[in-house]
Amino acid sequence: MRMFDVYNVYPIAPYRATNVYVYDEQGNEYLDLYGGHAVISIGHSHPVYVQSLKAQLDKIGFYSNAVVNPLQEELAKKLTEFSGCTDYKLFLCNSGAEANENALKLASFHTERKKVLAFKNGFHGRTSAAVAATDNPGIISPLNANHDVIHVQLGDLDSIEKILKNRECCAVIVECLQGIGGLDEADSEFYIQLDKLCNLYGTLLIADEVQSGFGRTGEFFAFQKHGLNPHLISMAKGMGNGFPVGGVLIHDTIDAKKGMLGTTFGGNHLACAASIAVLKVLESESLMDNAISVGQYLKEQLSLFPAIKEVKGRGLMLGMKFDFKTTDLRKKLLFDHKIFTGSSNDPNLIRILPPLTLQKKHVNELLDALNQLL
Ligand SMILES: Cc1ncc(COP(=O)(O)O)c(C=O)c1O
Repeated sequence: MRMFDVYNVYPIAPYRATNVYVYDEQGNEYLDLYGGHAVISIGHSHPVYVQSLKAQLDKIGFYSNAVVNPLQEELAKKLTEFSGCTDYKLFLCNSGAEANENALKLASFHTERKKVLAFKNGFHGRTSAAVAATDNPGIISPLNANHDVIHVQLGDLDSIEKILKNRECCAVIVECLQGIGGLDEADSEFYIQLDKLCNLYGTLLIADEVQSGFGRTGEFFAFQKHGLNPHLISMAKGMGNGFPVGGVLIHDTIDAKKGMLGTTFGGNHLACAASIAVLKVLESESLMDNAISVGQYLKEQLSLFPAIKEVKGRGLMLGMKFDFKTTDLRKKLLFDHKIFTGSSNDPNLIRILPPLTLQKKHVNELLDALNQLL
């Protein structure tokens, strides 16, 4: 049997990894400015993380949600402390798409409405409702095609108000800082008005923090820069540093029937141990501060290259925008300079999504490579 062929795969087989470096079996060292797609938050194989998972596995790795799991309470408590989101409850699942799927389902159940407002260039996952909210017809099957999802341009308040006014939308789902779409972000005033319109017309605001959350932008959640109060917050990626963990923060004003949401694996002991370890390290190593300072340095240095037309994003969620297609440049970075970077829907943009432990000396490795290539 072979693997179902759905990914474009580079001929590199990571064998071990430590902090910001990934190694293959031949001992080649790669600088990881991609973080396995914004997943590695506290660095590969962080000793605190490895120790926590090993110790947890020695005790118990999994039992179902039919019994008490104190680690879930510990994670919820730590998340509240760390994020400052005090009026929320936590639902745990396994991935970003699943988090959004559940957030959309809850919004529809709570409001008894069916329509969803989403944004052009937004990405929310590949499951049914999540993919329908995603602005990419190329990954939607007839089963997922949902004409109750309306996509509008980020920043277009007039269109948003016209749609929300009808009181048919259960939710607006938004990545405040878009990921794969190409690091676009509207100004704070737009998000504040969006929040107001949602409250005015009884629509729930879902902040998709799957990529931008868990400290990546230097805020715990990217929406916090704009002072928003979303009803639902979805998260995954950096939450488990590679262990599959997702979650939804659900505002206290929102309820669900027992059995309405659920998952076999979500919130298992190992997943909770992984996520608690991530929060501990984010705190003990001040990684959000690091994301801001190293991100700032990276941004400043990249802006000095005449070939780079714009450096988008914030913290360690950045994009280098060129006036040419970047496929070859990314390949050269990877194969000639052994540096992983990320692509985006914008063919002229390269994403940088490294572990939040990145240091200036690592940034300088990228700068040296770009100096040679550009
Ligand atoms: C903003 C955003 N939402 C949702 C998802 C889907 O997450 P997952 O691949 O874990 O299902 C992604 C994945 O890239 C994402 O970037």
